[in-house]
Amino acid sequence: MHSSRIQIAPSILAADFRRLGDQVQEAQAAGADLIHIDVMDGQFVPNITMGPLVVEAVAKAATIPLDVHLMIVEPEKFLRRFADSGANIITVHVEACRHLHRILSQITEVGCKAGVALNPHTPAVSIAEVLDMARVINVMTVNPGFGGQRFISSTLGKIRSLREMSEALSAEIDIEVDGGINSATIGRAVEAGANVAIAGTCVFEHEGGIAASINELRAAVRGTC
Ligand code: DX5
Ligand code: ZN
Repeated sequence: MHSSRIQIAPSILAADFRRLGDQVQEAQAAGADLIHIDVMDGQFVPNITMGPLVVEAVAKAATIPLDVHLMIVEPEKFLRRFADSGANIITVHVEACRHLHRILSQITEVGCKAGVALNPHTPAVSIAEVLDMARVINVMTVNPGFGGQRFISSTLGKIRSLREMSEALSAEIDIEVDGGINSATIGRAVEAGANVAIAGTCVFEHEGGIAASINELRAAVRGTC
């Protein structure tokens, strides 16, 4: 259980892009720890979203770190570009990388924290040999491509395994959960070993507003302890 240091990372995929800067600043003022930015290319996932220009714009609005989640093929071609745009964490998908070991080194070389993401069908063991190179693991709790999907509970066992694997290495690794996170699901993910909750729909589409939703997420985690 890692409830004392749970980080909340609003995903701007669900933000109102007419006033993106304001929404980012509202999330930050409400105590968000990171801003999560979903980059999709229409090839690795069946959707196209945003690229380095949006990262650059968010970097101007935020002072908290930017967590850039690349759901793209051949991510190695764009690492420098995203780093220059203001990314602090760059996460690539194990399923999209032919040479994951090299790519994780390249992320560190461009000055970012290296992250690796796993689709729901991808087992924990697929990253065992590169775990010592990753600062962040993103466990996809939905199939990547869209916001607003339902949390897939069968990923909880994988979160548990990855937490055990990183503790065995005595490595400081953040375990993120991404997809379908809300006040009903966050507790189970944290209990399994996640310490960073990425949330889009529940933060930006909450009827009480961004701050209320972030407070609700934090309260739900406290409730699990
Ligand atoms: C999905 C993205 C998520 C998405 C989560 O491919 O990686 O970051 O924004 O959205 P919600 O919280 O709506 O499931
Ligand atoms: Zn994401």
